[in-house]
Amino acid sequence: MLDIQVEKTNHPKQKPVDETQLGFGKIFTDHMFMMNYNQEKGWHNARVQPYSPITLDPSALVFHYAQECFEGMKAYRRADGKVQLFRPEKNAQRMLSTHERLCIPPISEQDFVQAVKALVEVDCDWVPHSDGTSLYIRPFTIATEAMLGVKASAEYQFIIIASPSGAYYAEGINPVRIYVEDQYTRAAPGGTGYIKCGGNYAASIIASEKAHKLGFSQVLWLDGVERRYVEEVGSMNIFFKIDGEIYTAPTCGTVLPGITRMSCIELMKSWGLEVHETRLAIEDVMKFAQEGKLEEVFGTGTAAVISPVGELVYENETAIIHNGTIGTLTQKLYDTLTGIQWGKLPDENGWTVPIGG
Ligand code: COI
Repeated sequence: MLDIQVEKTNHPKQKPVDETQLGFGKIFTDHMFMMNYNQEKGWHNARVQPYSPITLDPSALVFHYAQECFEGMKAYRRADGKVQLFRPEKNAQRMLSTHERLCIPPISEQDFVQAVKALVEVDCDWVPHSDGTSLYIRPFTIATEAMLGVKASAEYQFIIIASPSGAYYAEGINPVRIYVEDQYTRAAPGGTGYIKCGGNYAASIIASEKAHKLGFSQVLWLDGVERRYVEEVGSMNIFFKIDGEIYTAPTCGTVLPGITRMSCIELMKSWGLEVHETRLAIEDVMKFAQEGKLEEVFGTGTAAVISPVGELVYENETAIIHNGTIGTLTQKLYDTLTGIQWGKLPDENGWTVPIGG
């Protein structure tokens, strides 16, 4: 259990008036959580303090060798005004596995969740009220030891910031156009594809830039060995409904184990759907599309929620999915998941965690 000191700001910022203009991750709350690590004290000095820039030595290891990682989660405002988190222990568990891969000392599940709750409690008034909005929470860890040897840092900072946000994609719940990337790859066996480290995202930007220039929202990554099997999209996991059954890539090392992904699989199985976590070749996806069997495609992610895919372009072929409109299953998943997250539907699985009382 952390002993968290709270220092509140004397200069609260103006909260956004028009919540329809929030966008994603552009403004930040009044406070942040911080905690330091060194070898003598372990994780210590847990505190919620006014949001501010941080000062680091230019030789801090994070700037050179990218020993850094992050999580993404949200706090939701219910109709009764209360605020809740969604499966925060799953983010804590994933952060633990990320820390392990990056040789960063662990933060226990309990401490992680306690830290998130402490920040959200202090900044509770920043959780927006409008439909489709939430407080996006970004926990992250950086290597802060000042030295240039390539090694695990002896010092770290764990920080949590929060941002009232709307839809991640400008399209909102409207279908996105996705470009299948066949030149660059995101992850290879034995690498870091299954963790949330900034390096994965840095290396992906070139492909997103290319996709944006061509008029697409994101790229669909193929596996790094054969460039053949579908893996994930820039900021989401991806699902395919083919002839009534559901397919998504297995999370065995190169794919991020998304919490929205996991929740969708659990929901779809509870509805009696057949869900296959199995490798699926892109040429089969395109063939199923031609045969009229590719019924729906959607992405899942904390930031993106559920995002229907209306078009997939691979090499010179285009697959239009569900006439470019949202499919019935995609809509049902969106309604159910967001219904639970915003407290409009009963939480039969015990996924939500209240903030405060
Ligand atoms: C999330 O969905 O929380 C993510 O971290 C994706 C992203 C915005 C990089």
